[in-house]
Amino acid sequence: MDTALLTAVTSSARVQAALLQRRIDTAYLRDTRDVFEWHMLDADCLPLGGWDRASVGVVQATHDANGMEIDGLTASKRKLYVGQLGVNYKRDHMEVVSPWSTSDDGYADWDAVEGLCDHAIRERLRSDPKDFAIMMAEANATPKPSRDRLVELLFEKLRVPAIFLAKNAVLSAFATARQTAIIVDAGYRSTTVAAVHDGYALTKTFAKSPFGGQALNTLMQKALEVKGVVLRPRYTFKRRELSPGEWKVEEVPSPLVTPSFKAYQVEALVSDIREALCKVNDVMFDEVANANLLTTSYELPDGTEIIVGSDRLKVPEVLFQPRLLSTFTLINPDTFTARPDGSVAAPLPEMVMEAITKCDVDVRKDMYQGVVLTGGLSLTGGLRDRLEKELTEQGPSGARFKVTMAANPTERRFSTWLGGSILASLGSFQQMWVSRKEYDEHGTVIVHRKAP
Ligand SMILES: Nc1ncnc2c1ncn2[C@@H]1O[C@H](COP(=O)(O)OP(=O)(O)OP(=O)(O)O)[C@@H](O)[C@H]1O
Ligand SMILES: [Mg+2]
Repeated sequence: MDTALLTAVTSSARVQAALLQRRIDTAYLRDTRDVFEWHMLDADCLPLGGWDRASVGVVQATHDANGMEIDGLTASKRKLYVGQLGVNYKRDHMEVVSPWSTSDDGYADWDAVEGLCDHAIRERLRSDPKDFAIMMAEANATPKPSRDRLVELLFEKLRVPAIFLAKNAVLSAFATARQTAIIVDAGYRSTTVAAVHDGYALTKTFAKSPFGGQALNTLMQKALEVKGVVLRPRYTFKRRELSPGEWKVEEVPSPLVTPSFKAYQVEALVSDIREALCKVNDVMFDEVANANLLTTSYELPDGTEIIVGSDRLKVPEVLFQPRLLSTFTLINPDTFTARPDGSVAAPLPEMVMEAITKCDVDVRKDMYQGVVLTGGLSLTGGLRDRLEKELTEQGPSGARFKVTMAANPTERRFSTWLGGSILASLGSFQQMWVSRKEYDEHGTVIVHRKAP
């Protein structure tokens, strides 16, 4: 009943017009991101600052040999540091943790989830959670126990007056003024494919590849290390100018910094290199043919200049040829298993085709034409063109494929937020909020009913 209601809410002619009219430019995004009568939290970039890797610094209380507390922390208490400054500042013993589960699309570290929500609402939005309804974007396949616990957190701890949970794919479709589309979301933790029909995500079509920005960072890091590149994050050294243009790099010892902090900082550096240098080749990448192509230099923070060659193409190529994994030295392909049979993910065009095949025959034509590429990783040059080309080559003969993406990179990175802002400001949506009163009467079940 409520799925039908959502469909009705989003498919009326008025809403269509509103969706088109609200095609949002960056100025709109900047102006309204923080000020609204309700708040939209994107679970992927919770603190609304464009965090790719929603992470939290945690100092775990430890006891000394006599069982005494250290630093005023009790044994069960963890001190959280949230926000760009919190997690990027070098602190002794601080572990960097992620709220996400590593085994599914749910949350695992609830202290971190709570810390991020609290930080997003109080510090970034400068408001009291009691004053605003909250719409929260969620991964398409968020498991029910995670949704339940999040709902409890929002209503019981943060005392939010009303909530709504919306799937990333649905919101990304709205952001491009569509209610029927195949959403290919290339993000940090994964690349996902999902069909959305009449504003409703079709669960049976959900597919996930482990190749998101995080996996590509790992591949890039190993590829660089194999070539002897030493990746020194900024906190590990000081640079002193001896004479104009001549610098001396001095190591800053940090014996009490945790391995997770170091890994977080190294990854940030690698991610920057990858974003600056990698692009998707327009035809199947071939290691031998591309061996000497496209070398580019990159200056590391310590002033060292590195030269990167075919890895620029090879790293993002795994999205199209997962079997290339086995050619990366120091990489264990098992780390990237995503399918129940243990094999690595299918190539991206195959995932899209599979999702379309799982849709009803009569909507398939709309889906061929309605492939939408979104997510931060979609900023990798050449991705759209290659996906469209391979779909056309591999799809059924006569099928005309069209892969669209917002021209503005900011719109692509924050498409879930944009879609949420459109949905939540529609007059017809207001009846969809799950109020505190409804929650008190029915419990979490009401959320699964109103926001399936
Ligand atoms: N210009 C760029 N070129 C290539 N990749 C980029 C660029 N800008 C951002 N990215 C990558 O996009 C990824 C983040 O994308 P996004 O914000 O969509 O992820 P997310 O929603 O946090 O992750 P997920 O949806 O997987 O949980 C990062 O890995 C980042 O490196
Ligand atoms: Mg995302």
